[in-house]
Amino acid sequence: MSIAVPGDSAATGPAPLALLIPGGHGQLGSDLATLGVAYGSVSAPGSAQLDVTDVAAVRAAVDDLADTARAAGRAPVVCNAAAYTAVDAAESDVDGATAVNSLAPGLLAQACARAGVPLLHVSTDYVFAGDASRPYEPTDPTGPRSVYGRTKLAGEEAVSASGADAWIVRTAWVYGGTGRNFVKTMVRLAGERETLSVVDDQRGSPTWSAQLAAGLLELAARVAGGRGPAQRVLHCTGSGRTTWCGLAKAIFTEIGADPERVRPCTTDQYPVPAPRPAYSVLSDAAWRAAGLTALPDWRDALGTFFAEHKESLLAGR
Ligand SMILES: NC(=O)c1ccc[n+]([C@@H]2O[C@H](COP(=O)([O-])OP(=O)(O)OC[C@H]3O[C@@H](n4cnc5c(N)ncnc54)[C@H](OP(=O)(O)O)[C@@H]3O)[C@@H](O)[C@H]2O)c1
Repeated sequence: MSIAVPGDSAATGPAPLALLIPGGHGQLGSDLATLGVAYGSVSAPGSAQLDVTDVAAVRAAVDDLADTARAAGRAPVVCNAAAYTAVDAAESDVDGATAVNSLAPGLLAQACARAGVPLLHVSTDYVFAGDASRPYEPTDPTGPRSVYGRTKLAGEEAVSASGADAWIVRTAWVYGGTGRNFVKTMVRLAGERETLSVVDDQRGSPTWSAQLAAGLLELAARVAGGRGPAQRVLHCTGSGRTTWCGLAKAIFTEIGADPERVRPCTTDQYPVPAPRPAYSVLSDAAWRAAGLTALPDWRDALGTFFAEHKESLLAGR
């Protein structure tokens, strides 16, 4: 992956990192694992290796990280990429979503607090109501409208209440080379349908998981160097904004398909179990004010993503 690692202090900083990445096989987790090796050692277990709802397993993993990191002169950091991300399924599986999104972050944060290990926890635009008319700041009132959003907000609250040295990073509209996502779905549908209707009245900022991972690692290096931002809740997404329809047209363009085959429709015309925020744009002003690198414009990022992944995406559809 030819992503530049911003603010890579591993080569010059005081201590390399020892990263534990629960959810290490997901979209974000796998990119964190790939890019994390530039910063130090990486352990990126999937759910089969580390179930974040298992309190004993979580404690053992964090204690082990702390012990082995310190013995090796590395700075331990946990970056939690595990989540219940099936937004529609969560509406009818409240217990499942609560276990992973609400209770597990609390367990992880308590284990980090006990072991003196800093924690980066990833959250979502869905904690907001989505009825704003300007980008959401981290301090704006929350108001989730879905089970997924409510359980993720409860996870944030559990992390904040844990006493851990923790930062919560909200992101949105994530796609990457691993797992299922909107970009892959559009590539597949471009090969299956002559035209398709895509929602054009929800606005947000597409975020390439590899660029988000690079941003989180920049933050991890800062935190490990004792220079973590004063603000504990931050937003990090691709720059700029579009609609799902705008994103779909850009995807068609990237694969050489006619973007006019993508037709705009309204949210009402595409009913799904979980309500989506109409406006999901997150302000990265606090992220930039903390001296962290803003992510590139979403459209440029999509072009770079396709330059790396187009062949495999077309072959796999
Ligand atoms: N995708 C988006 O558009 C989006 C938008 C905003 C925020 N986010 C947030 O970004 C973060 C990363 O999301 P993502 O897109 O990378 O999601 P993802 O691809 O669905 O990855 C989530 C991972 O969580 C793991 N997981 C689920 N239950 C677990 C458990 N009990 N124990 C351990 N691991 C468990 C899964 O592991 P296995 O695969 O090994 O089962 C999965 O790989 C999450 O916090 C999510 O809420 C995502």
